[in-house]
Amino acid sequence: MKPDIPEKVASAAVMKTIDLIAGARPNFMKIAPIIDALQAARSRGGALRYRLIHTGQHYDKAMSGGFFEQLGIPEPDLNLEVGSGTQAEQAAAIMVRYEKVLLEKKSDLCLVVGDVTSTLACAIAARKLGVPVAHVEGGIRSGDWSMPEEINRVATDAITNWFFTTSETANANLRHAGVAAERIFFVGNTMIDTLLKQLPRLRPPPFWDELALRPGGYFVVTLHRPANVDGEQQLLRLLQAIAAGAAGLPVVFPVHPRTAKSLGALQGQMPGLHYVDPQGYLEFNYLVRYARGVITDSGGITEETTVMGVPCLTLRDNTERPETVTVGTNELIGTDPTRLGPAMARLLADQWKKGAIPEKWDGRAAERIVAALERLL
Ligand code: UD1
Repeated sequence: MKPDIPEKVASAAVMKTIDLIAGARPNFMKIAPIIDALQAARSRGGALRYRLIHTGQHYDKAMSGGFFEQLGIPEPDLNLEVGSGTQAEQAAAIMVRYEKVLLEKKSDLCLVVGDVTSTLACAIAARKLGVPVAHVEGGIRSGDWSMPEEINRVATDAITNWFFTTSETANANLRHAGVAAERIFFVGNTMIDTLLKQLPRLRPPPFWDELALRPGGYFVVTLHRPANVDGEQQLLRLLQAIAAGAAGLPVVFPVHPRTAKSLGALQGQMPGLHYVDPQGYLEFNYLVRYARGVITDSGGITEETTVMGVPCLTLRDNTERPETVTVGTNELIGTDPTRLGPAMARLLADQWKKGAIPEKWDGRAAERIVAALERLL
Protein backbone atom coordinates (compact mmCIF):
# COMPACT_ATOMS: atom_id res chain seq x y z
CA MET A 1 0.00 0.00 0.00
CA LYS A 2 1.23 3.52 -0.84
CA PRO A 3 1.99 5.69 2.19
CA ASP A 4 -0.23 8.75 2.56
CA ILE A 5 1.65 11.77 1.20
CA PRO A 6 0.09 15.14 1.98
CA GLU A 7 -1.15 16.61 -1.33
CA LYS A 8 1.09 19.71 -1.10
CA VAL A 9 4.27 17.66 -0.81
CA ALA A 10 3.22 15.29 -3.56
CA SER A 11 2.60 18.04 -6.09
CA ALA A 12 5.81 19.88 -5.15
CA ALA A 13 7.74 16.71 -5.87
CA VAL A 14 6.50 16.51 -9.48
CA MET A 15 6.42 20.22 -10.29
CA LYS A 16 7.77 20.94 -13.80
CA THR A 17 8.89 24.27 -15.21
CA ILE A 18 8.39 25.21 -18.83
CA ASP A 19 10.24 28.08 -20.46
CA LEU A 20 7.83 29.92 -22.76
CA ILE A 21 9.82 31.81 -25.39
CA ALA A 22 8.42 34.95 -26.99
CA GLY A 23 10.57 37.22 -29.11
CA ALA A 24 8.83 38.92 -32.00
CA ARG A 25 5.36 40.27 -32.73
CA PRO A 26 3.91 37.12 -34.30
CA ASN A 27 4.94 35.11 -31.22
CA PHE A 28 2.88 37.04 -28.71
CA MET A 29 -0.58 35.99 -29.90
CA LYS A 30 0.60 32.37 -30.08
CA ILE A 31 1.92 32.35 -26.50
CA ALA A 32 -1.02 34.18 -24.83
CA PRO A 33 -3.53 31.29 -24.87
CA ILE A 34 -0.85 28.82 -23.73
CA ILE A 35 -0.30 30.98 -20.64
CA ASP A 36 -4.07 31.04 -20.03
CA ALA A 37 -4.26 27.26 -20.35
CA LEU A 38 -1.26 26.74 -18.06
CA GLN A 39 -2.81 29.01 -15.45
CA ALA A 40 -6.10 27.15 -15.70
CA ALA A 41 -4.32 23.82 -15.28
CA ARG A 42 -2.44 25.13 -12.26
CA SER A 43 -5.60 26.36 -10.60
CA ARG A 44 -6.96 22.82 -10.99
CA GLY A 45 -3.95 21.60 -9.01
CA GLY A 46 -1.76 20.71 -11.99
CA ALA A 47 2.01 20.45 -11.66
CA LEU A 48 3.11 22.63 -14.60
CA ARG A 49 4.75 25.99 -13.94
CA TYR A 50 6.30 28.41 -16.42
CA ARG A 51 8.89 31.13 -16.89
CA LEU A 52 7.94 33.62 -19.58
CA ILE A 53 11.10 34.67 -21.42
CA HIS A 54 11.05 37.62 -23.81
CA THR A 55 14.16 37.66 -25.97
CA GLY A 56 13.75 41.35 -26.86
CA GLN A 57 13.96 40.69 -30.64
CA HIS A 58 11.02 43.08 -30.96
CA TYR A 59 11.16 45.79 -28.34
CA ASP A 60 9.05 48.84 -29.39
CA LYS A 61 5.72 49.43 -27.68
CA ALA A 62 4.13 49.18 -31.12
CA MET A 63 5.76 45.83 -31.92
CA SER A 64 5.85 44.31 -28.44
CA GLY A 65 4.64 46.06 -25.24
CA GLY A 66 1.24 46.98 -26.64
CA PHE A 67 0.52 43.34 -27.45
CA PHE A 68 1.29 42.27 -23.88
CA GLU A 69 -1.19 44.85 -22.59
CA GLN A 70 -3.97 44.12 -25.06
CA LEU A 71 -3.70 40.35 -24.82
CA GLY A 72 -3.34 40.32 -21.04
CA ILE A 73 0.05 38.60 -21.18
CA PRO A 74 1.82 38.90 -17.82
CA GLU A 75 5.14 40.73 -17.54
CA PRO A 76 7.93 38.44 -18.72
CA ASP A 77 9.88 36.80 -15.91
CA LEU A 78 13.03 37.55 -17.87
CA ASN A 79 13.86 39.85 -20.77
CA LEU A 80 17.05 39.02 -22.67
CA GLU A 81 16.94 42.47 -24.32
CA VAL A 82 18.81 41.57 -27.51
CA GLY A 83 17.37 44.43 -29.57
CA SER A 84 18.17 45.18 -33.22
CA GLY A 85 20.90 43.56 -35.24
CA THR A 86 21.53 41.21 -38.13
CA GLN A 87 19.88 37.84 -37.73
CA ALA A 88 23.21 36.23 -36.81
CA GLU A 89 23.88 38.94 -34.23
CA GLN A 90 20.42 38.53 -32.73
CA ALA A 91 20.56 34.73 -32.75
CA ALA A 92 24.02 34.73 -31.20
CA ALA A 93 23.04 37.16 -28.45
CA ILE A 94 19.86 35.21 -27.67
CA MET A 95 21.78 31.92 -27.46
CA VAL A 96 24.45 33.34 -25.14
CA ARG A 97 21.91 35.00 -22.84
CA TYR A 98 19.41 32.14 -22.74
CA GLU A 99 22.20 29.63 -22.13
CA LYS A 100 23.19 31.66 -19.06
CA VAL A 101 19.60 31.55 -17.83
CA LEU A 102 19.52 27.78 -18.22
CA LEU A 103 22.90 27.30 -16.60
CA GLU A 104 21.67 29.21 -13.58
CA LYS A 105 18.42 27.29 -13.39
CA LYS A 106 17.46 24.61 -15.87
CA SER A 107 13.87 24.20 -16.88
CA ASP A 108 12.15 20.93 -17.77
CA LEU A 109 11.07 22.06 -21.23
CA CYS A 110 11.72 24.88 -23.67
CA LEU A 111 8.55 25.71 -25.57
CA VAL A 112 9.05 27.77 -28.72
CA VAL A 113 6.43 29.04 -31.16
CA GLY A 114 6.51 29.99 -34.82
CA ASP A 115 9.54 30.58 -36.99
CA VAL A 116 11.39 33.70 -35.92
CA THR A 117 15.06 34.11 -35.00
CA SER A 118 14.20 33.72 -31.29
CA THR A 119 12.48 30.37 -31.96
CA LEU A 120 15.59 28.76 -33.40
CA ALA A 121 18.12 30.40 -31.10
CA CYS A 122 16.39 29.27 -27.91
CA ALA A 123 15.73 25.77 -29.25
CA ILE A 124 19.45 25.32 -29.95
CA ALA A 125 20.57 26.65 -26.57
CA ALA A 126 18.08 24.45 -24.72
CA ARG A 127 18.63 21.21 -26.59
CA LYS A 128 22.42 21.47 -26.24
CA LEU A 129 21.97 21.63 -22.46
CA GLY A 130 19.74 18.59 -22.49
CA VAL A 131 16.48 20.51 -22.08
CA PRO A 132 13.80 19.03 -24.36
CA VAL A 133 12.15 21.30 -26.91
CA ALA A 134 8.48 21.59 -27.88
CA HIS A 135 7.66 23.46 -31.08
CA VAL A 136 4.22 25.01 -31.44
CA GLU A 137 3.41 25.40 -35.16
CA GLY A 138 6.02 22.75 -36.01
CA GLY A 139 6.12 21.00 -39.35
CA ILE A 140 4.94 23.75 -41.70
CA ARG A 141 7.09 24.26 -44.82
CA SER A 142 7.11 26.77 -47.67
CA GLY A 143 9.96 25.05 -49.53
CA ASP A 144 11.34 28.55 -50.11
CA TRP A 145 14.92 28.69 -48.87
CA SER A 146 15.17 32.43 -49.50
CA MET A 147 12.97 32.98 -46.43
CA PRO A 148 14.83 33.14 -43.11
CA GLU A 149 11.65 31.75 -41.54
CA GLU A 150 11.92 28.54 -43.59
CA ILE A 151 15.48 28.01 -42.39
CA ASN A 152 14.30 28.63 -38.83
CA ARG A 153 11.47 26.11 -39.22
CA VAL A 154 13.56 23.33 -40.66
CA ALA A 155 16.45 23.84 -38.24
CA THR A 156 14.14 24.10 -35.20
CA ASP A 157 12.21 21.00 -36.19
CA ALA A 158 15.47 19.06 -36.60
CA ILE A 159 16.09 19.39 -32.84
CA THR A 160 12.49 19.42 -31.57
CA ASN A 161 11.29 16.63 -29.29
CA TRP A 162 7.53 17.27 -29.45
CA PHE A 163 5.63 18.94 -32.25
CA PHE A 164 2.32 20.76 -31.78
CA THR A 165 0.87 21.18 -35.24
CA THR A 166 -1.78 23.30 -36.92
CA SER A 167 -2.62 21.08 -39.91
CA GLU A 168 -2.56 17.61 -41.44
CA THR A 169 -0.08 18.98 -43.98
CA ALA A 170 2.34 19.78 -41.17
CA ASN A 171 1.85 16.27 -39.76
CA ALA A 172 2.60 14.77 -43.17
CA ASN A 173 5.71 16.96 -43.60
CA LEU A 174 7.03 15.72 -40.27
CA ARG A 175 6.25 12.06 -40.94
CA HIS A 176 7.93 12.42 -44.32
CA ALA A 177 11.04 13.75 -42.51
CA GLY A 178 11.05 10.60 -40.38
CA VAL A 179 9.46 11.95 -37.19
CA ALA A 180 7.69 9.18 -35.23
CA ALA A 181 3.93 9.65 -35.00
CA GLU A 182 3.96 9.65 -31.18
CA ARG A 183 6.01 12.89 -31.18
CA ILE A 184 3.41 14.74 -33.29
CA PHE A 185 0.34 16.31 -31.69
CA PHE A 186 -2.24 17.81 -34.05
CA VAL A 187 -3.73 20.42 -31.74
CA GLY A 188 -4.97 23.28 -33.92
CA ASN A 189 -3.81 26.86 -34.02
CA THR A 190 -3.02 28.94 -30.94
CA MET A 191 -3.03 32.15 -33.01
CA ILE A 192 -6.67 31.39 -33.76
CA ASP A 193 -7.34 30.68 -30.06
CA THR A 194 -6.34 34.29 -29.46
CA LEU A 195 -8.35 35.63 -32.36
CA LEU A 196 -11.55 33.85 -31.31
CA LYS A 197 -11.11 35.02 -27.73
CA GLN A 198 -10.46 38.62 -28.75
CA LEU A 199 -13.14 38.96 -31.48
CA PRO A 200 -15.66 40.63 -29.16
CA ARG A 201 -13.00 43.12 -27.99
CA LEU A 202 -11.79 44.26 -31.43
CA ARG A 203 -12.10 48.00 -31.76
CA PRO A 204 -11.68 50.59 -34.51
CA PRO A 205 -8.36 52.42 -34.75
CA PRO A 206 -8.42 56.13 -33.91
CA PHE A 207 -8.25 57.14 -37.61
CA TRP A 208 -11.40 55.17 -38.55
CA ASP A 209 -13.65 58.22 -38.82
CA GLU A 210 -10.98 60.58 -40.08
CA LEU A 211 -10.36 58.32 -43.10
CA ALA A 212 -14.12 57.76 -43.48
CA LEU A 213 -13.67 53.99 -43.37
CA ARG A 214 -16.83 51.89 -43.72
CA PRO A 215 -17.31 48.11 -43.38
CA GLY A 216 -16.54 46.53 -46.75
CA GLY A 217 -15.33 49.87 -48.09
CA TYR A 218 -11.52 49.74 -47.87
CA PHE A 219 -8.46 47.52 -48.27
CA VAL A 220 -5.77 46.66 -45.74
CA VAL A 221 -2.17 46.16 -46.85
CA THR A 222 0.81 44.77 -44.93
CA LEU A 223 4.22 44.20 -46.48
CA HIS A 224 7.50 43.36 -44.81
CA ARG A 225 9.23 40.49 -46.65
CA PRO A 226 12.63 41.47 -48.00
CA ALA A 227 11.62 40.31 -51.53
CA ASN A 228 8.84 42.91 -51.56
CA VAL A 229 10.17 45.80 -49.52
CA ASP A 230 13.97 45.88 -49.61
CA GLY A 231 14.12 47.22 -53.16
CA GLU A 232 12.53 50.64 -53.56
CA GLN A 233 11.44 49.94 -57.14
CA GLN A 234 9.57 46.71 -56.34
CA LEU A 235 7.82 48.36 -53.40
CA LEU A 236 6.85 51.36 -55.54
CA ARG A 237 5.44 49.15 -58.32
CA LEU A 238 3.44 47.09 -55.83
CA LEU A 239 1.99 50.18 -54.17
CA GLN A 240 1.07 51.70 -57.54
CA ALA A 241 -0.70 48.48 -58.56
CA ILE A 242 -2.57 48.35 -55.25
CA ALA A 243 -3.65 52.00 -55.46
CA ALA A 244 -4.88 51.49 -59.05
CA GLY A 245 -6.64 48.19 -58.26
CA ALA A 246 -8.50 49.66 -55.28
CA ALA A 247 -10.73 51.58 -57.71
CA GLY A 248 -11.07 54.61 -55.47
CA LEU A 249 -11.54 52.73 -52.18
CA PRO A 250 -9.16 53.82 -49.43
CA VAL A 251 -6.19 51.58 -48.70
CA VAL A 252 -4.88 51.42 -45.12
CA PHE A 253 -1.24 50.41 -44.85
CA PRO A 254 0.16 49.86 -41.32
CA VAL A 255 3.86 50.15 -42.02
CA HIS A 256 6.26 47.65 -40.44
CA PRO A 257 9.54 49.25 -39.24
CA ARG A 258 11.50 47.32 -41.85
CA THR A 259 9.25 48.64 -44.63
CA ALA A 260 9.41 52.18 -43.26
CA LYS A 261 13.13 52.22 -44.04
CA SER A 262 12.52 51.49 -47.76
CA LEU A 263 9.42 53.62 -47.91
CA GLY A 264 11.16 56.86 -46.93
CA ALA A 265 10.88 58.95 -50.07
CA LEU A 266 7.86 57.05 -51.44
CA GLN A 267 5.56 58.28 -48.66
CA GLY A 268 2.73 60.51 -49.77
CA GLN A 269 3.04 59.82 -53.50
CA MET A 270 -0.08 57.72 -53.95
CA PRO A 271 -3.58 59.12 -53.51
CA GLY A 272 -5.91 56.86 -51.58
CA LEU A 273 -3.03 55.09 -49.83
CA HIS A 274 -2.93 55.83 -46.11
CA TYR A 275 0.27 54.98 -44.27
CA VAL A 276 -0.27 54.39 -40.56
CA ASP A 277 1.91 53.13 -37.72
CA PRO A 278 1.96 49.43 -36.84
CA GLN A 279 -1.39 48.84 -35.15
CA GLY A 280 -2.28 47.17 -31.89
CA TYR A 281 -3.76 43.67 -32.05
CA LEU A 282 -7.33 44.79 -31.41
CA GLU A 283 -7.21 47.64 -33.92
CA PHE A 284 -5.43 45.68 -36.63
CA ASN A 285 -7.84 42.78 -36.53
CA TYR A 286 -10.81 45.16 -36.46
CA LEU A 287 -9.45 46.67 -39.68
CA VAL A 288 -9.06 43.18 -41.18
CA ARG A 289 -12.47 41.99 -40.07
CA TYR A 290 -14.32 44.77 -41.86
CA ALA A 291 -12.02 45.14 -44.89
CA ARG A 292 -13.20 44.42 -48.43
CA GLY A 293 -9.95 42.55 -48.82
CA VAL A 294 -6.45 42.20 -47.39
CA ILE A 295 -3.24 42.31 -49.40
CA THR A 296 -0.26 40.91 -47.52
CA ASP A 297 3.01 39.00 -47.59
CA SER A 298 2.59 37.76 -44.00
CA GLY A 299 1.80 34.14 -43.19
CA GLY A 300 -0.12 34.61 -39.95
CA ILE A 301 -2.52 37.17 -41.41
CA THR A 302 -3.67 34.63 -44.02
CA GLU A 303 -4.84 32.44 -41.14
CA GLU A 304 -6.73 35.29 -39.50
CA THR A 305 -8.44 36.33 -42.76
CA THR A 306 -9.41 32.70 -43.30
CA VAL A 307 -11.12 32.53 -39.92
CA MET A 308 -12.83 35.89 -40.39
CA GLY A 309 -13.88 34.98 -43.97
CA VAL A 310 -12.16 38.02 -45.48
CA PRO A 311 -10.65 37.73 -48.99
CA CYS A 312 -6.85 37.68 -48.85
CA LEU A 313 -4.34 38.25 -51.64
CA THR A 314 -0.87 37.01 -50.72
CA LEU A 315 2.04 38.62 -52.52
CA ARG A 316 4.24 35.53 -52.41
CA ASP A 317 4.82 32.57 -54.72
CA ASN A 318 4.44 29.96 -51.99
CA THR A 319 2.94 29.43 -48.58
CA GLU A 320 3.76 27.27 -45.59
CA ARG A 321 0.04 27.44 -44.71
CA PRO A 322 -1.62 25.76 -47.73
CA GLU A 323 -4.93 25.22 -45.92
CA THR A 324 -5.50 28.99 -46.07
CA VAL A 325 -5.64 28.53 -49.86
CA THR A 326 -7.27 25.10 -50.21
CA VAL A 327 -9.84 25.65 -47.43
CA GLY A 328 -9.70 29.35 -46.60
CA THR A 329 -10.03 32.69 -48.37
CA ASN A 330 -6.39 33.13 -49.37
CA GLU A 331 -4.95 33.18 -52.87
CA LEU A 332 -1.29 33.31 -53.87
CA ILE A 333 -0.88 36.20 -56.28
CA GLY A 334 2.93 36.19 -56.46
CA THR A 335 5.24 39.19 -56.39
CA ASP A 336 4.62 40.42 -59.95
CA PRO A 337 2.68 43.70 -59.57
CA THR A 338 0.82 43.18 -62.86
CA ARG A 339 -1.08 40.28 -61.31
CA LEU A 340 -2.68 42.50 -58.68
CA GLY A 341 -5.08 44.40 -60.95
CA PRO A 342 -7.03 41.38 -62.29
CA ALA A 343 -7.18 39.77 -58.84
CA MET A 344 -8.50 42.94 -57.19
CA ALA A 345 -11.03 43.35 -59.99
CA ARG A 346 -12.33 39.81 -59.32
CA LEU A 347 -12.61 40.62 -55.65
CA LEU A 348 -14.47 43.86 -56.28
CA ALA A 349 -16.84 42.01 -58.62
CA ASP A 350 -17.70 39.71 -55.67
CA GLN A 351 -16.19 36.70 -57.40
CA TRP A 352 -13.94 35.67 -54.52
CA LYS A 353 -14.27 32.25 -52.90
CA LYS A 354 -16.09 32.14 -49.57
CA GLY A 355 -13.78 29.70 -47.77
CA ALA A 356 -14.26 27.55 -44.66
CA ILE A 357 -12.46 27.04 -41.35
CA PRO A 358 -9.60 24.51 -41.26
CA GLU A 359 -9.83 21.46 -39.01
CA LYS A 360 -9.32 22.08 -35.26
CA TRP A 361 -9.02 25.86 -35.61
CA ASP A 362 -11.66 26.04 -32.91
CA GLY A 363 -10.07 28.06 -30.12
CA ARG A 364 -8.94 25.05 -28.08
CA ALA A 365 -5.40 24.42 -29.33
CA ALA A 366 -3.68 25.70 -26.19
CA GLU A 367 -5.86 23.50 -23.98
CA ARG A 368 -4.82 20.49 -26.06
CA ILE A 369 -1.15 21.49 -25.81
CA VAL A 370 -1.29 21.77 -22.04
CA ALA A 371 -3.18 18.48 -21.72
CA ALA A 372 -0.45 16.79 -23.79
CA LEU A 373 2.32 18.43 -21.76
CA GLU A 374 0.72 17.22 -18.53
CA ARG A 375 1.06 13.68 -19.87
CA LEU A 376 4.55 14.15 -21.33
CA LEU A 377 6.38 15.89 -18.49
C1 UD1 B 1 10.55 39.32 -37.92
C2 UD1 B 1 10.46 37.83 -38.20
C3 UD1 B 1 9.31 37.57 -39.18
C4 UD1 B 1 8.00 38.17 -38.68
C5 UD1 B 1 8.23 39.65 -38.43
C6 UD1 B 1 6.96 40.30 -37.91
C7 UD1 B 1 12.61 36.68 -38.17
C8 UD1 B 1 13.68 36.07 -39.00
N1 UD1 B 1 11.65 37.35 -38.84
O1 UD1 B 1 10.95 39.95 -39.12
O2 UD1 B 1 9.13 36.16 -39.31
O3 UD1 B 1 6.98 38.00 -39.63
O4 UD1 B 1 9.29 39.79 -37.46
O5 UD1 B 1 7.20 41.59 -37.50
O6 UD1 B 1 12.63 36.55 -36.98
N2 UD1 B 1 12.43 46.95 -35.45
C9 UD1 B 1 11.97 48.06 -34.78
N3 UD1 B 1 11.25 47.86 -33.64
C10 UD1 B 1 10.99 46.62 -33.15
C11 UD1 B 1 11.45 45.52 -33.86
C12 UD1 B 1 12.16 45.69 -35.01
O7 UD1 B 1 12.19 49.17 -35.18
O8 UD1 B 1 10.34 46.50 -32.09
C13 UD1 B 1 13.23 47.13 -36.67
C14 UD1 B 1 14.55 46.42 -36.55
O9 UD1 B 1 15.48 47.24 -35.95
C15 UD1 B 1 14.87 46.08 -37.98
C16 UD1 B 1 13.50 45.86 -38.58
O10 UD1 B 1 12.56 46.47 -37.73
O11 UD1 B 1 15.47 47.15 -38.62
C17 UD1 B 1 13.23 44.40 -38.77
O12 UD1 B 1 13.03 43.73 -37.53
P1 UD1 B 1 13.50 42.20 -37.31
O13 UD1 B 1 12.97 41.65 -36.03
O14 UD1 B 1 14.94 42.11 -37.53
O15 UD1 B 1 12.85 41.37 -38.46
P2 UD1 B 1 11.42 41.47 -39.11
O16 UD1 B 1 11.62 41.87 -40.52
O17 UD1 B 1 10.50 42.27 -38.26
